[in-house]
Amino acid sequence: MTQLLDDRLHSAKHSPLLSTAIRDQAHHLTGWVVVDSLVDGMAMGGTRMTASVTEQEVCDLAAAMTVKLALVGLRIGGAKAGIVAVPEHRDEVLRAFGRSVAPLLHGGVYLGCDQGTTHDDRDVFFVEAGYDVRRRPGITEMRADWTELWRHLKDITGYGVAESAIAALRLRSDERQRRVSIQGFGTVGRSVAKNLQAYGHRIVAVADVLGTISDPDGLPVSELLEITDAAGTIDRSRLPQSVTVLNQPEGWLDVDAEVLVLAAGGGAIREDNLSRLRADVVVEGGNLCCTAAAKEALRSAGTVVVPDVVANVGGAAVTGCILTGLAPSDVPTEELVRWMFDWVGQQVRRNTSDVLEIASQHGADPVPELLAARRAESAGV
Ligand SMILES: NC(=O)c1ccc[n+]([C@@H]2O[C@H](COP(=O)([O-])OP(=O)(O)OC[C@H]3O[C@@H](n4cnc5c(N)ncnc54)[C@H](O)[C@@H]3O)[C@@H](O)[C@H]2O)c1
Repeated sequence: MTQLLDDRLHSAKHSPLLSTAIRDQAHHLTGWVVVDSLVDGMAMGGTRMTASVTEQEVCDLAAAMTVKLALVGLRIGGAKAGIVAVPEHRDEVLRAFGRSVAPLLHGGVYLGCDQGTTHDDRDVFFVEAGYDVRRRPGITEMRADWTELWRHLKDITGYGVAESAIAALRLRSDERQRRVSIQGFGTVGRSVAKNLQAYGHRIVAVADVLGTISDPDGLPVSELLEITDAAGTIDRSRLPQSVTVLNQPEGWLDVDAEVLVLAAGGGAIREDNLSRLRADVVVEGGNLCCTAAAKEALRSAGTVVVPDVVANVGGAAVTGCILTGLAPSDVPTEELVRWMFDWVGQQVRRNTSDVLEIASQHGADPVPELLAARRAESAGV
């Protein structure tokens, strides 16, 4: 994972700008904040709270954030925080976290939510830190609060991932209805399913943590959405009769589909399962879904692979647009939401076309070259 990001950052020995461990035993808090880079004195990233989070994971995610934000031209560096989850002391841990990171928040390092944390959790640690993000200099002034805004934007990452798939197909001059397999039916996967279906593509398989369900004639996406819980688990007792439950592990790989969207977790496609892949367009909707070796093998075999840092920037980009004041201030919330979807769509389509163009010229990872081009653009070179 680290090697892949080192490659991306064009450095044999990439290390974050600042990495700090937080230990507050009295309040059951163990965590890390990593600032991978600062731009104009600012950085941003989510706060991951899981039982298994590690400093290395936080470092890797912070580095990926640097790349994502630079690729869309946002003038803010990448950061990330990790908190080891202690469910029985959740609020106490969040409050202790807020007190510990107060100097960073006030100093320009924005820490939002990520896997395992919600906007309400973020508010808990902001209050404890005495930090009010609305007072941040240069920030977009919003008429809605963040929780309200995010209710409208919850699908934005998946929207960007779907736009990326569409851009990849267009680059191949492929405008036909395609069959799509989606690994992961959470926030990202569900939005991808809705958006690609709206374009007329056929969703032939979706997978959650329990396995894969499929229908070669097309799954009834809206019915599946109704029987899926917030964590992205589809209720097997209420499945429509038309669908088939595949028994083999990683069944989403064996399904006949031209497009595969990976929207679960890291390492979904590896050298050991690569040979089962049928799709010729693979989009990384989650982070680091393909190992570096698998990606290289896919590229040499002529499979189109859209990297995570290009495809799944939607959520991060929204926050970055607000923090840097790029998004319009004091406009009706619907207008702001429309602006965000348009902006994310434009960035993702452009980066997808350019990264695939670069990939078609050589077999190496195309992200460093795209990153260098975007950085040169930002610097006005
Ligand atoms: N939500 C965002 O805005 C966003 C932004 C960037 C990156 N990501 C990354 O994208 C990935 C998906 O995010 P999400 O918010 O949809 O997560 P989520 O927790 O809402 O959903 C995850 C989905 O993957 C399924 N899943 C878990 N393990 C699986 C397995 N082994 N095989 C098949 N399915 C499996 C779960 O059942 C669930 O349907 C995560 O890695 C996340 O870090 C999310």
